[in-house]
Amino acid sequence: MFYNYLNNIYTKTKSVIVWHNQTCVFYNELNFLEVNNLPFDPDLCRNESEVESKLIVQYLLPQLGYTPDTWHQEVALGSIRLDFLAFAAQALPFVIDANSPLSVVMEAKHPKQNLNNHVPRLRHYLTSLNVQYGLLTNGKEIRVYQKLLYDIQLVFSCSGKEINTKIEEIKKLIGRENLNNKDILNNFKASVISNNISMTIKEQHSMKIIAVYHNKGGVGKTTTVVNLAAAIRKRGKRVLVIDLDSQANTTFATGLVKFDDEEFDDIKDSNIFHVLSSEDFYSIAEVARKSNFSNPEINVVPAHIDLIRQETELNALEYSRLILIDKLEEVKNEYDVVLIDTPPSLNLYAKIALIAADYLIIPSDLKPFANQGLTNVKDFIKSINAFRKQIRKAPIELIGVLACKISTNAIAFLNLVKYSNNNG
Ligand SMILES: Nc1ncnc2c1ncn2[C@@H]1O[C@H](COP(=O)(O)OP(=O)(O)OP(=O)(O)O)[C@@H](O)[C@H]1O
Ligand SMILES: [Mg+2]
Repeated sequence: MFYNYLNNIYTKTKSVIVWHNQTCVFYNELNFLEVNNLPFDPDLCRNESEVESKLIVQYLLPQLGYTPDTWHQEVALGSIRLDFLAFAAQALPFVIDANSPLSVVMEAKHPKQNLNNHVPRLRHYLTSLNVQYGLLTNGKEIRVYQKLLYDIQLVFSCSGKEINTKIEEIKKLIGRENLNNKDILNNFKASVISNNISMTIKEQHSMKIIAVYHNKGGVGKTTTVVNLAAAIRKRGKRVLVIDLDSQANTTFATGLVKFDDEEFDDIKDSNIFHVLSSEDFYSIAEVARKSNFSNPEINVVPAHIDLIRQETELNALEYSRLILIDKLEEVKNEYDVVLIDTPPSLNLYAKIALIAADYLIIPSDLKPFANQGLTNVKDFIKSINAFRKQIRKAPIELIGVLACKISTNAIAFLNLVKYSNNNG
C-alpha cells in the first residue's frame, strides 16, 4: 500500500521525499529503485537503455546477488559484444574458460522488440562462448535460456509485471549464490573444447565462410564456386557448398538434380529455403546432400527455382537474415571451408550470404558492365557492413576481384590493361 502510494508520486514527479526513521531522504530517478529495493515496474522502461538501467542494473543484478565487481557492461569478446556479463565465480581479470558456465549473459532490448528475433543471437553467444545461462528481456517479458551442447532452451519466462513475484524462481536458476552452489562445472567440462577465450575465438573462426558475389550476371560466380570447391576438397579440406541463387546453377552443376520430371523433384521440399525459414528444424546437416561431382565428394545445400517466389515470405521473417549464421555455427566443426554461390542481384539472398560470410570473392569478366557494376557491389557491401556492425560482426573481408572468362585475344587483353591502368 505504502509502496503504491510512493510509486504513484514517483511516477508523476520523478522524485520523492520520504521520512526514514526521522531522517529525510530524497529519491530521484537515478537512485529510486536502487536505494529502496522497490519492486520493478515495467512501465518505467520506455527504451532499451531504460531496460538496461532500470530492470537489469537497478533491479535484477542486485536481486540476483551480483555486486558491482561481479558484472560488466558492454563486454567485447572477439567479434561478440555482450550487453552484460555477470560472473558467479569469477572476478576481474576474467577469462572465458572451463569456468565460464558459471556466468550469465544478459541482453536488453527495446520494449517494442519481439524477443523471438533475438534468440538466434543469444544462441550464438552462449554456444560460442560456452556460457550456460542467458537472460533476454525487453522489460515487458523476461526469458532465461540454458545452453545445451549446440543449442539453447527456454527454462524460464514471465512478464515484466510478474517479475517481482517470480524473482525467487529466477534466483534459483541464475542467482549468484545458487549458481555457485550448482555442480554445473563438472557437467559442462566435457563440452568445453578450448580452455581460453582466444582459443574459443580461434575455434569459432577455423571454418572459413566465403561468399562469391557480383551483382552482374554471367561473370563466373557459379563456375568459381564449383571449381574452387573441387580444388579445395582435393587438398583434403572438408568443403560445404551453399547455393543461394534461385537459378540453382550450382545445384545443377554439382549433379544434385537427378530428375527429369517435376513429379520426381526431391529438392523442392528440402533446400536452402527450408534452412532459412525454420529456426528449429532443417539444420544444415539435415538438408546438405552428398555430391560426387568431385572426388572425394562434397556436401551441397541445394537451391530450388521456387526460391524466387519464396523471397517475399523470407523477407517477412525477421530472423531470416541471421539464421544462416547460427546454422553454420552448428557445423563449424564439420567443415573447413564453406563456399556460398549468390544470385546476380542485390536481393535478400545476396544479403544473407554477405551477412553470414567472413570473406568475399568478386568474380568479374572485367568487361565494362562488370566494371561499372563494381560500384554497386561496393555500395552494397557498405550497407551490409553497416548491418553487420549492428549485429556486432566484423566487416566482411574482401579477398579480391577474381578475373574470370578472360579471353586471350589481343583486343580483350588491351581493354583489360587499359582498365587496370585507368583504375590504378
Ligand atoms: N573461366 C571461364 N572461361 C570460359 N567460360 C567461362 C569461365 N567461367 C565461366 N564461364 C562460362 O560463363 C558462363 C557464366 O558463368 P557462371 O554461370 O559461372 O556465371 P554466374 O556469375 O554464376 O552467372 P549468374 O549470375 O547467372 O549466376 C557459363 O556458361 C560458364 O560456363
Ligand atoms: Mg551463377
